[in-house]
Amino acid sequence: MQTIIILDHGSQYTQLIARKVRELNVYCEIHPYNNLPAFDKNVVGVILSGSPYSVNDKDAPKPDLWFKGKLPVLGICYGAQYMVNAFGGKVQRSTAREYGRAILTAIDSTCPLMKDVSIGSQVWASHGDTVETMPDNYKIICSTASVKNAGYKIEGEETYAIQFHPEVHHSVEGKKILENFLVNICHCKQDWTSDNFVATAINELKEKIGNDKVVLGLSGGVDSSVAAILLNEAAGKNLNCIFVDNGLLRKNEFESVLVSYKGMGLNVKGVDAKEMFYTALKGIKDPEAKRRAIGKTFIDVFDREASMIKDVRWLAQGTIYPDVIESISVKGPSATIKSHHNVGGLPDYMKLKIVEPLRSLFKDEVRRVGKVLGLKDELLSRHPFPGPGLAIRILSDVTEEKVRILQEVDSIFIEGLKQNDLYGKVWQAGAMLLPVQSVGVMGDERTYENVVALRAVESVDGMTADWAHLPYTFLAEVSNKIINNVSGVNRVCYDISSKPPATIEWE
Ligand code: XMP
Repeated sequence: MQTIIILDHGSQYTQLIARKVRELNVYCEIHPYNNLPAFDKNVVGVILSGSPYSVNDKDAPKPDLWFKGKLPVLGICYGAQYMVNAFGGKVQRSTAREYGRAILTAIDSTCPLMKDVSIGSQVWASHGDTVETMPDNYKIICSTASVKNAGYKIEGEETYAIQFHPEVHHSVEGKKILENFLVNICHCKQDWTSDNFVATAINELKEKIGNDKVVLGLSGGVDSSVAAILLNEAAGKNLNCIFVDNGLLRKNEFESVLVSYKGMGLNVKGVDAKEMFYTALKGIKDPEAKRRAIGKTFIDVFDREASMIKDVRWLAQGTIYPDVIESISVKGPSATIKSHHNVGGLPDYMKLKIVEPLRSLFKDEVRRVGKVLGLKDELLSRHPFPGPGLAIRILSDVTEEKVRILQEVDSIFIEGLKQNDLYGKVWQAGAMLLPVQSVGVMGDERTYENVVALRAVESVDGMTADWAHLPYTFLAEVSNKIINNVSGVNRVCYDISSKPPATIEWE
């Protein structure tokens, strides 16, 4: 598969470059600038990302550009400035404002990178430095009103650079520029498609696994479900799926998802471990301690179940590309705000080899692959749901009774969203059970019962989110329905915090 290598210098936009390249049906990989793999013959071009550093900083990233002049290169922002600085030009603190919107005022239309890009097109810049003087053989290919050297080409080689960010949404023709680089300059065939991925992945899995047995933990979420059908194509009955009921799932979810899995022809065993989880969680109030208790219990259950499968050799996981990138990132694994990865690993004595069929895919690609594999819409379009489930939506300690209350509330909310055609419009929704009681009046009686908070957010990747502006009429209806139908709840709130500074889950 033709591959574009993206050198990561720590920019917040590096993943976005990769996603845009993939959207153009070209396979790409992100690697830290200081830890590049050997390039094989599939590598057809290199993109240098931006960076929070200035090239003049003492500890600025200094990649070894051994491939420059041999392969096509596109430098973006820091990448553009680095090449100027490293090869005889000058980069300085900028006097003009170079944050945000800028307009291309001049374009070299003969340059293959700028083909069909229009003068007047808006681009997005985000840098404090600027290219002051360029080395002799560098030729300007575009300018903005305040930045003459907005883009350049190095003569005699296929090296191009732009100081603005083509990967961000606000660079209106940014995708065109990336496409020009990929197609006109790197000659990419644009054959990275879901169909192709599926065909190749199944073959590779067959080769890797052969007739060995594989075990996979299903969660009901998109990633593990897609991993399962892919592996099912490759391993068939040798794939042993385990779906654990931890007692923290949504109302009736365990039963209905198990039926869907079986309907898909998966060899799946449903394991009722509710009591074990409730026991492990007893009295625990701290969110991270809850996560640990759930993670440990899951491993115990999974371990017990997996060891019952005779001669199992492989442990399959639904790891996706953002997890991989995070673990190799220039910045190192990001500081833990919440420990989101629930399965720490299996005991060593099981000696299972790991297979991760989705490790090269972004979430939206996983969904597309799922579609190609015929995964039902109802599973594909499900909102994300955290591994520790309702335990981190029940503030304070977890009991079976609290789970029951929250399941009822959540079910009314989610069903309401579906019936009102709102489910697909929000990224994630759920309900929180708060550790407070409030006074209410029902009939002539004073009540003193629980408060719940509803949360619905809009987001692209869960990293940032805004609260969903759901219609008041809908919220009023849902609130009434909850209070009238769920005994134990007499007050409903709606969470109007964005992330940051809040998070999506309350714990
Ligand atoms: P936060 O609350 O960090 O959530 O804004 C971002 C996304 O991650 C999910 N989340 C988790 N998922 N285990 C998971 O598998 C966890 O411990 C966990 N905590 C949060 C959350 O539902 C949202 O989609």
